[in-house]
Formats: sequence, C-alpha cells, structure tokens
Amino acid sequence: MNTKDKPFLTDVKELRRRASEHIEDGAVTGSYGIDAKQAIELLQGALAAEIVCVLRYTMHYISATGIASDGPKEEFKAHAAEEQQHMLQIAERINQLGGRPNFNPDGLSSRAASQYTEGRNLVEMLKENLVAERIAIDHYRELIHFFGEKDPTTRIMLEGILATEEEHANDMHDLLVAHEGRPLIGGS
Ligand SMILES: [Fe+2]
Ligand SMILES: [Fe+2]
Repeated sequence: MNTKDKPFLTDVKELRRRASEHIEDGAVTGSYGIDAKQAIELLQGALAAEIVCVLRYTMHYISATGIASDGPKEEFKAHAAEEQQHMLQIAERINQLGGRPNFNPDGLSSRAASQYTEGRNLVEMLKENLVAERIAIDHYRELIHFFGEKDPTTRIMLEGILATEEEHANDMHDLLVAHEGRPLIGGS
C-alpha cells in the first residue's frame, strides 16, 4: 500500500501482525495509550463509588416515608437503577481491559470516593445525595481528562455517566429547594 495516500493509516499486514501478538490481552492492543493496570485501578475506584451510590439510593428509597416523600422516593428508586447501570458499565469495561471488577464488600467504602450515608429525614437524604453527586461529577471530570484521547472508549462511557450524574445532582437540588423548610418527616 502506498503510505503517501493514507499517511495516518497503518498497513493492513502490519495491523494483522500487531493484533496477533499478545492475543491474551483481549481488547487491549499495543496502541492502547495508557498503562492498563493504572486504568483498571482508577475504574475500580469508580466502580466502588457506583456500588455505594446504588446502596445509598436504595436505602433512601426504602426508608423515605410520608406523603411529602412520594416524589423523592420515586426519584431515589430511579437513581438507584441508573447507578446500577453505571456499575455494570464500569465493571464490563474493567473486564474488557483485562481486570477483575472488584465487588468485594470488604473495603468497599475506602475504595469509593462517595459516602454511604443514611440520612435521618428527607431533607438530610436529599442533601447527602446532592453532595455525593457533586463528588461524582468532579471525580468523573478528572477521569475523563485522564483517559482523554488515549482511551476514547472509556472516555465516552465516562462522559455518558457524567451527564447522568449532572441530571441526578439537578434532581436532588430541585427536590431540596421544594422540600426544605417543610416539617421534617420519616426520621429513621
Ligand atoms: Fe453513577
Ligand atoms: Fe448519580
């Protein structure tokens, strides 16, 4: 092939030769731009954070009581389902990169940037979720910056997750505005 015509593309033969080396690495080829170990390590932290988010929103969904909590309760349930989606996406990506997603409950909270907090009433729950979402937003922005052009697949996945976390933060903010100042309900 005349490389002058396609200066940015690698010859097919060369692509085949490279691809057949280290086939045990699965989706991670020689052109993977970052240290796969480091990438996996960073994603394990995000996985732990998502697991904590699933647990926190599920707990809040179950424990939110009282008529005024109907809206937030459904919102907590929907968020728990979305956090579970994030958890699965990140675990799949860790697997693709050759890692073993860490679901071990031992040490979970120390691996996660987000906190597990139960909240004694609805307003506390909303505040805790808002803080957790704001942490997640900063965390994902940093990860997106790290993966950048070197691992576009992971970056695009993280950008999708970030967009959802921003929606979550906005939902919690709006509910907090609507509920703050009302009598506190549903203490645990
Ligand atoms: Fe999430
Ligand atoms: Fe979230």
